[in-house]
Amino acid sequence: MIRIGPYELRNAVLLAPMAGVTDAPFRAAAMRLGAGLAVAEMAAGKEVLNGRHLARLAGENAGGGPFAVQLAGSDPVLMARAARVALANGAQVVDINMGCPAKLVTGKLSGAALMREPALARRIVEAVVAVAGQAPVTLKMRLGWDDAQRNATDIALMAADAGVSMIAVHGRTRQRFYHGRADWAAVGDVVRALRAAGHAIPVIVNGDIVDAATARTALARSGADGVMIGRAATGRPWLPGEIAEALAPGSGIAPLPFARQAWELARLHAAMTDFHGERAGVRRARKHLKAALAHWRAAGAVPVEQAERLREIFLRAEEAGRVRAALLALAEGRRDAA
Ligand SMILES: Cc1cc2nc3c(=O)[nH]c(=O)nc-3n(C[C@H](O)[C@H](O)[C@H](O)COP(=O)(O)O)c2cc1C
Repeated sequence: MIRIGPYELRNAVLLAPMAGVTDAPFRAAAMRLGAGLAVAEMAAGKEVLNGRHLARLAGENAGGGPFAVQLAGSDPVLMARAARVALANGAQVVDINMGCPAKLVTGKLSGAALMREPALARRIVEAVVAVAGQAPVTLKMRLGWDDAQRNATDIALMAADAGVSMIAVHGRTRQRFYHGRADWAAVGDVVRALRAAGHAIPVIVNGDIVDAATARTALARSGADGVMIGRAATGRPWLPGEIAEALAPGSGIAPLPFARQAWELARLHAAMTDFHGERAGVRRARKHLKAALAHWRAAGAVPVEQAERLREIFLRAEEAGRVRAALLALAEGRRDAA
């Protein structure tokens, strides 16, 4: 059982934060469909502070679990203030981003770059923990900056000493971005070091987990308490819940039949256009529909010709109604879906 401060998660399969992908409607869908926790995507500490993010934050709780907001930044004072603002506006868990590899972020000493600056990283964690009070603070990081500086264990020990309540580790260094295979065994070093130091906080293994089999292997190799699913959940908000059910029957959801998947995506599409407005919502939903279609094709759920027509609608239609009609027709098993 994974416990983050006062919050007990219903299972050990978490949805990873992905900027531009796991927005509030998607996280709500993932939680409704059985994910253990959905961490909100990164917000720059600065943005939270200047109020740009506030309105979104307040209306964003995905529901079904504690509202975990992720902050990225490099200034301990600013990060602490941003955490206070987030908590005052509904956040229940503050997650610190030490994993983002993007140049735009690391160039400002944020994200994964903080792993190269352990003293600064410590000041940030301590400052955020201090303002969070009873609210848990969690950390998401990589194995280190590059192969020469794999210091995830040191950073994890520092963060646990400073009082963080959970650590998620993406089994790659920053220099690897998303190349190569995630090293789940290396996440095991972090787990062992924390346990040897007497820290019982949950550790979550992340990277390249795409189904129940990879989840089991990642857990076995790392000894972690749970898994975090990122890219594989694109277009499949039900995936964390399905994996949870396979790992621990009764804790997630049974595999959704194809028709129900189409229905869920129609529902997600409606939630996204409500949340973002029609134009932006239709555009943002495309990456989910594209991913779903690829999975349906691979599974033989839609014939090739129909998939081509669906692709045209999913990726080009500007009207939400047209996309939704196609999804609902699929859900109802009508051949005129596209
Ligand atoms: C498009 C995209 C956006 C991401 N945004 C964030 C983010 O905002 N915060 C974060 O900590 N990680 C972010 N990540 C990293 C993921 O949370 C995760 O660590 C990574 O994708 C590895 O897991 P996976 O192999 O299951 O995708 C992002 C990844 C992708 C592909």
